[in-house]
Amino acid sequence: MRLEKYIATSGIASRRAVKKRILAGAVSVNGEPILVPGYPIDIETDVVEFEGKRVEPLKDRIYLMLNKPAGCITTRSDQRGRPTVMDLVRDLSDTIYPVGRLDLETEGLLLFTNDGDFAYRLLHPSHEIEKTYIAWVKGVPRDAVIQQLRQGVRIPSGTTAPAKVSQLKISKDGHATALEVTIHEGKKRQVRMMFKAVGHPVIRLKRVQIGTLKLGHLPLGAYRLLTSEEVSELLSL
Ligand code: URA
Repeated sequence: MRLEKYIATSGIASRRAVKKRILAGAVSVNGEPILVPGYPIDIETDVVEFEGKRVEPLKDRIYLMLNKPAGCITTRSDQRGRPTVMDLVRDLSDTIYPVGRLDLETEGLLLFTNDGDFAYRLLHPSHEIEKTYIAWVKGVPRDAVIQQLRQGVRIPSGTTAPAKVSQLKISKDGHATALEVTIHEGKKRQVRMMFKAVGHPVIRLKRVQIGTLKLGHLPLGAYRLLTSEEVSELLSL
């Protein structure tokens, strides 16, 4: 495996950042400084050091999904001491970090890993991985509004790409609607902004699927490890 990929996979930094650090002389293999990003690594036997620290062997990769509750922030630490998603996974590992983010008030499927290359591949906009949400919104959007959301609407960060939107149900009192929304972009607060733009603000938002991976019946606040099949399916998207 290429040196830069090996190090990025360990979760230390992105591939691009790793490459720069290799060129700057921050990496050694078996005690020898190596300045070539593509230097071949034997993952069974080579000892790689990044800025003087041993890079963990690859078998220690962790991939998990959390059912994030509303009210905790997606960050590794918060200066104001608010609850973070790390509080919910730290008993397993504190070297993992969230892949992307969900807003403070958004619930649902959040991935964690210590594999930088996995995170990079999932987050890179060119891969356009689909994410599906259940959005409960105020009022009952008309068909024309749903059509508008499907085609794209203007939000503060630009115009949204075509999305899949379907109505699931209307509340008994007729004041709210649940919809399933699938997008493949990651604009800031995108789903909330899309519904705000058409006059139906989001009341509650939950992510239920990323690519082929479904949240399923994982209890709120709980996590589970992904199977190796689930990891390879995500990487093959
Ligand atoms: N869209 C939002 O508005 N919020 C999220 O957390 C994710 C997608």
